[in-house]
Amino acid sequence: MTPDASQSEKKPVYRKLPRRHYPDVMRDNDRKIDLDWDDDHVLPSKIYPDIAHLLRRMTDVTLGAVAVADRESVLDIGCGRAVDAIELAARGGQCSGLEPSGRMISRAQERIAQNGTVVSLARGVSAHLPFKSNSFDKVICKGALDHFSHPEQAIAEMARVLKPQGKAVIATANFESLGFKAGRRVFALTRFLRRGKTDDGDFWRIPEDHTIKLDYGTLRRLVRPHFRIERSIGISLLVGLPGWSSLLEKLPARVSATSLSALDKLASHLPSLSNVIVIRCTPSDKSTSWSAE
Ligand SMILES: C[S@@+](CC[C@H](N)C(=O)[O-])C[C@H]1O[C@@H](n2cnc3c(N)ncnc32)[C@H](O)[C@@H]1O
Repeated sequence: MTPDASQSEKKPVYRKLPRRHYPDVMRDNDRKIDLDWDDDHVLPSKIYPDIAHLLRRMTDVTLGAVAVADRESVLDIGCGRAVDAIELAARGGQCSGLEPSGRMISRAQERIAQNGTVVSLARGVSAHLPFKSNSFDKVICKGALDHFSHPEQAIAEMARVLKPQGKAVIATANFESLGFKAGRRVFALTRFLRRGKTDDGDFWRIPEDHTIKLDYGTLRRLVRPHFRIERSIGISLLVGLPGWSSLLEKLPARVSATSLSALDKLASHLPSLSNVIVIRCTPSDKSTSWSAE
């Protein structure tokens, strides 16, 4: 069948923000930003059932919390390949993605072109968002806050660019989760018993490209000056617990899936112990804080 000409004409690939909107990324150079950051190294070579479940739920819960309505403006900060921005655009949002990494911007552009969605991309940093105040209905920041050079400034910027009734949804790994705490203790015990000889590395270690160790208390302290938290949701509990991934793999698939979703139900009420925390918040005192602008 011949493609409908009017349809293909209507198919914009991506829209770039005008150059004048690009911030001076050097302004953030008092703390180094990797302008070539690449996500190739992020996922482990083998994805166990608990990690696959965690990643899937992190996306589902975060996008669910954004709850984009038709034609709402959404900004994805630290958008990476723009996978979430593309999905939110498909759900009716008018989406923009912000990224400092040239490599990730290229990958995002490719993906946007493949999907035929309209997502604006801006190259910049979270501490100096190249957008006017009160311009977005929603902000999403998934798995990125602990990569930012100035997380506290990024939070202030999120509040600035949001409309007074807007919502920010922040999703982040919790480095004080139950699984990570247990992992750290078992590691310390093993190191003691083996007189210092242990296998290197595990999930609970803070990766080198992180600028801050986030847990529920730290996240709340960071957002409190600018936002009121409406909802906190925990995802997954035992990632990081030694032996948990391989046990799940040995169990029949149905049993492991049932165990993971049962634990997830528990985790949703225990954000301080869960592996991932998703918060949905609204700017506090917007009328007074930003009235000077
Ligand atoms: C782990 S990735 C998350 C990507 C995406 N949000 C997702 O969920 O797939 C973190 C992203 O934050 C970006 N980033 C790092 N520092 C940043 C900064 N100062 N401002 C904005 N984004 C930053 C990185 O380039 C990277 O794409």
